[in-house]
Amino acid sequence: MEKNYKRTLITTALPYANGPVHIGHLAGVYVPADIYARYLRLQGRPVTMVGGSDEHGVPITIKAKAEGVTPQDIVDRYHTIIKDSFRELGISFDVYSRTTSAIHHDMASEFFRRLYDKGVFVERETEQLYDEEAGQFLADRYVTGECPHCHAPGAYGDQCEKCGTSLNATDLINPRSAITGNVPVLRKTKHWYLPLDRYEEALRRWILEGHKEWKTNVYGQCKSWLDLGLQPRAVSRDLNWGVPVPVAGAEGKVLYVWFDAPIGYISNTKELYPDSWQTWWKDPETRIINFIGKDNIVFHCIVFPAMLMAYGDNYQLPDNVPANEFLNLEGDKISTSRNWAVWLHEYLRDFPGKQDVLRYVLTANAPETKDNDFTWRDFQARNNNELVAILGNFINRVMVLTHKYYGGTVPAAGELTDTDRAAFAEIRTAAVEQTRALETFHFREALKEAMNIARIGNRYLQDTEPWKVVKTDALRTATIMNVATQICASLAVAFEPFTPFMSARLAQMLSLPTLRWDMIGREDIIAAGTVIAEPQLMFEKIDDDAIQAQMDRLARIKEENRVKAFKPAPQAPDVDFDTFMKADLRVGTVLECEKVPKADKLLRFVIDDGIGHRTIVSGIAAHYPDPSVLVGTQVCFIANLPPRKLRGIESQGMILSAEDADGSLVVMGPSKPVTPGAQVK
Ligand code: 2FM
Ligand code: ZN
Repeated sequence: MEKNYKRTLITTALPYANGPVHIGHLAGVYVPADIYARYLRLQGRPVTMVGGSDEHGVPITIKAKAEGVTPQDIVDRYHTIIKDSFRELGISFDVYSRTTSAIHHDMASEFFRRLYDKGVFVERETEQLYDEEAGQFLADRYVTGECPHCHAPGAYGDQCEKCGTSLNATDLINPRSAITGNVPVLRKTKHWYLPLDRYEEALRRWILEGHKEWKTNVYGQCKSWLDLGLQPRAVSRDLNWGVPVPVAGAEGKVLYVWFDAPIGYISNTKELYPDSWQTWWKDPETRIINFIGKDNIVFHCIVFPAMLMAYGDNYQLPDNVPANEFLNLEGDKISTSRNWAVWLHEYLRDFPGKQDVLRYVLTANAPETKDNDFTWRDFQARNNNELVAILGNFINRVMVLTHKYYGGTVPAAGELTDTDRAAFAEIRTAAVEQTRALETFHFREALKEAMNIARIGNRYLQDTEPWKVVKTDALRTATIMNVATQICASLAVAFEPFTPFMSARLAQMLSLPTLRWDMIGREDIIAAGTVIAEPQLMFEKIDDDAIQAQMDRLARIKEENRVKAFKPAPQAPDVDFDTFMKADLRVGTVLECEKVPKADKLLRFVIDDGIGHRTIVSGIAAHYPDPSVLVGTQVCFIANLPPRKLRGIESQGMILSAEDADGSLVVMGPSKPVTPGAQVK
């Protein structure tokens, strides 16, 4: 039977403070967590939502080095951007802190120390990769190489991003230092290992037997990890950025970022509730829910729970870990390093006042069971065809008619008809479905049910036609408009978890000071006589120009990435000077240039080569859809190749072209006009 909990603690994965947050983070973690937190609050259930920036780890130090600043500079910069943009999007954290805080350092340190004192760790001296030039050990992102599992190149020392396997740096094939590019050597160093194998049985019982209700992607990943058998994992690193390992003889060593980060959930709770934080972590009547992305499953379901089991002291394990899959952008994987993302702080700048639209689209299209794609066209369509045309349109019609017929005062209803009662009943059914979906973390479905309420409202107006009835029946019109206003109030509640800005404006317009979940579908939310504020549009159409500007930005980034990714062909073996000089290179002026009939690839050039007219056939037709653009230009060609016949035309030489990064060919010519026949020296 469902246990009756007294309170819910919602944790949200701590984003690395080495870049801003993007729509992938939002769709995967923060928007769903916020929906859930808001829903629980509307139900009057005690809830706390904690978050914060993950400010340790190798990528932050790499970025600092690249920019010539300190890691603290990097995390200060991004923590501020992340925190501000979350606030602006309405992510309703009760606390948003950071892992460089003193409270966190103390707590992470104490956590390690207690495990150390209890003799939990296995201390091992092993050989690790070391970069002699940089003078440091290479763990995690400091080293790349071939993945030993899927053999993809460029796997990191802690994980292969291609196949998702978590790795030890020493497992990599042909490892290279990410700092100098050198081949690392092996050097001995001491580390502390968390013996996950000792917790395997307990984890098996807890997850595989106790939590069969978890999402299949989460349960499945846990099962395959457990079935493979757990190994001890190092929880310290040779690094000078992080929480120092609090034992003697550990100078120059810090806690592994994945050891300290989840403790951040606890230290942030302590920062929020200095006196009562333990109730939120150690009372069995607290329910803990971890919102994360799929790449974090193992740490939240295996490693952190093992840490909590090892610590004891009644720490509670999460009740659910509703991890999402990934969101792609216009068909490609979102990537911070390739700048292939819609950054939240940029969205807020480009679409001011449109927080709800992003929240709505990311929920409607959330990657709950499989990876999904965000496209700007879908964003526009969902805004224009759903938020504006269905939800906004209904609310606007009701508000405008109430002002037109009653000067903005909600009229008293007469007796309800079957149509009225049916509309309320349908809304209550939608609310039951919505509640069920929210309780089980099916937020897309919950949003659909909320939108159904708006559809019910639109249909109600269509069926009752107050604009016609007003001409003949005052009491019936008043009843219809009263019912329609109650439906608007239901919408303010039902949409609050998803589009809180719209809900707040609507509630204010309806003079509705508090929203409660059990209001949805009620017939008397707004009292007759309530004065409604001047109607204002809840949503506005987004035009093609705004969307095109975003698509142009992505096209520019794609082009920049293409250029960056271009690797010039390796240099050909040496050629001796005399051999090279045998090629007679010249410049000529193009007199004619046209496609060779029935040959897709060929262009026929007639060139003034200073001596006469020379015909050259060249296989570059695909790159010059309009060959006439070349007429009058000057081109370089090899004059002394033996003539050869192509499609019955004798070609007397070869035109030189450069092959660009995308494989396109561009004809070569002099940088200023020369006399036809000039030799290239
Ligand atoms: O994957 C990440 O972005 C990590 N920074 C998430 C950490 S979650 C938690 F454990 F703090
Ligand atoms: Zn791999």
